Amino acid sequence: MSALKDVDQLSPDEAAQELARLAREIAQHDRHYYEKDAPRISDAAYDELRRRNHAIEARFPDLVRPDSPSKRVGTRPAEGFGKVAHAVPMLSLDNVFTDKEVREFAARVRRFLRWPEDKPLVFSAEPKIDGLSCGIRYERGHLVQAATRGDGRTGEDVTQNVRTICDVPKALKGDGWPDVLEVRGEVYIPTTEFAAMNAAQEAAGKPVYANPRNAAAGSLRQLDPAISASRPLRFFAYAWGEISGPFAQTQYEAVQKFGAWGFSINDHMRRCQNADEMIAAYALIERERATLGYDIDGVVYKVDRLDLQARLGFVSRSPRWAMAHKFPPEQASTTLEKIDIQVGRTGALTPVAKLHPVTVGGVVVSNASLHNADEIKRLDVRVGDTVLIQRAGDVIPQVVKVLDPDRQGRAAPFAFPTHCPCPLSTPAVRELDEKTGEAGVITRCSGEFACPFQRVRRLEHFVSRQAFDIEGLGKKQIAAFFEEKIITEPADIFTLKERNDVLKLQTREGWGETSAANLFAAIEERRTIPLERLLIALGIRHVGQTTARLLSTTYLSWQNFHTSMLAAQDRQSEAYNQLTSLDGVGDVMAEAIVQYFAEPHNEGLVERLLAQITVKDAIPPKNDSPVAGKTVVFTGKLVEMSRDEAKAGAAALGAKVAGSVSSKTDILVAGPGAGSKLKKATELGIKTLTEEEWLALIAKA
Ligand code: IVH
Repeated sequence: MSALKDVDQLSPDEAAQELARLAREIAQHDRHYYEKDAPRISDAAYDELRRRNHAIEARFPDLVRPDSPSKRVGTRPAEGFGKVAHAVPMLSLDNVFTDKEVREFAARVRRFLRWPEDKPLVFSAEPKIDGLSCGIRYERGHLVQAATRGDGRTGEDVTQNVRTICDVPKALKGDGWPDVLEVRGEVYIPTTEFAAMNAAQEAAGKPVYANPRNAAAGSLRQLDPAISASRPLRFFAYAWGEISGPFAQTQYEAVQKFGAWGFSINDHMRRCQNADEMIAAYALIERERATLGYDIDGVVYKVDRLDLQARLGFVSRSPRWAMAHKFPPEQASTTLEKIDIQVGRTGALTPVAKLHPVTVGGVVVSNASLHNADEIKRLDVRVGDTVLIQRAGDVIPQVVKVLDPDRQGRAAPFAFPTHCPCPLSTPAVRELDEKTGEAGVITRCSGEFACPFQRVRRLEHFVSRQAFDIEGLGKKQIAAFFEEKIITEPADIFTLKERNDVLKLQTREGWGETSAANLFAAIEERRTIPLERLLIALGIRHVGQTTARLLSTTYLSWQNFHTSMLAAQDRQSEAYNQLTSLDGVGDVMAEAIVQYFAEPHNEGLVERLLAQITVKDAIPPKNDSPVAGKTVVFTGKLVEMSRDEAKAGAAALGAKVAGSVSSKTDILVAGPGAGSKLKKATELGIKTLTEEEWLALIAKA
């Protein structure tokens, strides 16, 4: 974009042209925000557009257009909602698509619990409502707070808006509820009401929503509760978060109680005795889908008994005791206009299908992933082909197949690039699979630290939401700063302010005094960063949020972690052994972590960054249990529970579960048939417990 003229320099013609452009652009951004719930620009950039529109209109009042953004109300919130930390994290569900996977889920639950085939095990099956989840907190029966899911740990405070939903009681009916009760469920908009609401929006010249889910999200997230109140929002209660005491023994009973306390509950919930009945319940709900009156995207199965749910617990972000059985993805056909190559943070070249835009399941799709060179070959997809695409929920759309492979005059097969599309055009190499050692599917740019595309991706990752999360520093700003060599590595972000005498950010295009000052403040706010976020930000291969959290609660301080990783360069060392024995760190991941710190480039980068920031130590997990912080190894056969349950239970109490015995091991739990591990532990003088003794020990927790 060329530099914009000062508003007082504009001629009336130029002003009229700009107002037309701004009306168009702002309307387009509103559509992305409302219909897709996926804004394409930052709030700051959006506000800037509106401010300019306003300034031009103030100078040329005669030119105000009938479709001017200033005439529309109910646009996106100018500032955010308050934040609410979830006392109990709001998790998501694992998905399956086939009957076979449903059977596997049921079998896995039985295995984990060591539940014999002939022992009854009940599951509930209920529709998976396609809305947005919300937690509503009651204290002594009165609604005190409501929050969206957010990232699962922190959500947005939407109390005032939720109070306007007709089937959310402001005071609970009946009795028997715990003093503190956070009821969770889905906020949604019924299909008929959705159609009427969109018709009204359209008649009023306001943007329409793409589907009921986006409409529900957009309606709940209105800063003005009066607007939320005017929208046909509804709520189904199906789960709970923090509670001051137990109130039911089964899922079914819990939900029935919600009903008695004044909530709407879903009347299609059924109880199933086995996988066959679960699959039958799914088929039934699928048949009823069209006539339910609200959108659903599958069926959720839950282990009915709450004591068993507690034993099963969670794996990273989803419960072991529940599973979503999703409906088949929706499909559509369109033409492939072009294949683009994107370069990821690790240099992987990913082909992306650029499609003629088409609506699939209520959302306009114009890109689909083609994954890699092999996938393009397998599909034999070529530019100009008509392709079948599908999308399921939030998953990136996929190309399923070519519909006209026998067409005359087809383009030549796609030649996968042999060089990175970046300006350096570095050779790209087909990488070996780290696990099998055979030719893998990924083609990677060999430019590593030199490749400007990779460097930009790494910086984008560094400031992303799970990492440093610096407000006002998004992809667009990173790209511009990188281009001008203002930020070329993470440390540069933290020296921006001191370089501003020369940089004069406030005078640059798209920036002003306020936005520059806001950015500096946002950066200062992140100068102290939790260890977990730093570990995510570094972008070490295979290290995502779950691993970063594990590493952070294991090593506790940057100093300790860094020293251990340097020591772990020696694969025979105790430090390396400790790393690989962490439950959740496999060999490939351990290698990636150790190699990251073996690379002098990374060491330099980290050193310069650490000179700018302060890393907050992690808080050791639950230290009130007798096994917290202890390294525990299980060996031999366990009788009371499966190995998986034993490990998960120990980890939940703050123990570190290791796979092999070393001098760092604190406790070995040995069942019948224990062999070499028991022998080694005895030699090392490590405390050894039977399964029974272990259970007695943790019963004190
Ligand atoms: S149970 C611990 N039950 O699906 C997880 N979730 O994909 C508790 N959802 O975040 C969730 N209908 O927003 C549950 N009957 C139902 C549901 C349901 C819809 C949503 C919920 C969740 C998402 C996971």
